[in-house]
Amino acid sequence: MATEIIYMVKDWFEWHDLYKNEPKLQQRLQIVQEYISYSLNLPEPGLIRVVSVCAGDGRDLLGTLSNHPRAKDVYARLVELNPHLVERGQQTIESLGLTKQIEFINGDATLSSNYLGAVPADIVIVCGVFGNLADEAELNRLLANLSFLSKQGAFVIWTRGHSNGIPHSETVRKFFREYGFEEVNFKLTATGDMGVGIHRYLGESLAAPKEQQFFAFTGVPSKAR
Ligand SMILES: C[S@@+](CC[C@H](N)C(=O)[O-])C[C@H]1O[C@@H](n2cnc3c(N)ncnc32)[C@H](O)[C@@H]1O
Repeated sequence: MATEIIYMVKDWFEWHDLYKNEPKLQQRLQIVQEYISYSLNLPEPGLIRVVSVCAGDGRDLLGTLSNHPRAKDVYARLVELNPHLVERGQQTIESLGLTKQIEFINGDATLSSNYLGAVPADIVIVCGVFGNLADEAELNRLLANLSFLSKQGAFVIWTRGHSNGIPHSETVRKFFREYGFEEVNFKLTATGDMGVGIHRYLGESLAAPKEQQFFAFTGVPSKAR
């Protein structure tokens, strides 16, 4: 019988402890960092703008920048609601000597106003988000609004877990095609139940957001996917 994993965690800060022992999350992080590193290698010399939506403690981007030759070219804004995760991320930024280039905002990542001045970006990280939307309509709304966050040619890096044997990442790939994104790469974790993708935005970037709130994050940490 198909089952859904319920994690015994009380909040999103505690959920991040799962990275210590959960192969699915460890493998997902490894692929996400591989994609971030790949995206950083491609742009022309000069500034590389990065935004991370619901950034957690920023370990995917910050871990990559810790030994990437383009780290000093990056200007990034990470948006995260949990203050303890932001505090941990800030400490990592300080330890890497990147305080002048990386802003960690303790705020609501669903609001377009929290990205003003940092977009359109060359790299948009949306990891651990798609599985926390209410339904496919909400996923469509978020994908449509990525044209505000993304430059033409921007890389969007995303994850989507599978549950009850349903390959949700296939739905995400289909919708990305419909919203003007080209798939650069897609991998499943070795555990087989987490999709990690990198797409390129081919459309025009929007100067102003279509909506002030461009998605609703409704997931809970005990059922995170
Ligand atoms: C599944 S975790 C993913 C974290 C990180 N992106 C990663 O992949 O490790 C989801 C994150 O979204 C954050 N979050 C939830 N609602 C949010 C909101 N409205 N604005 C900003 N962050 C939010 C949670 O606090 C949590 O850190």
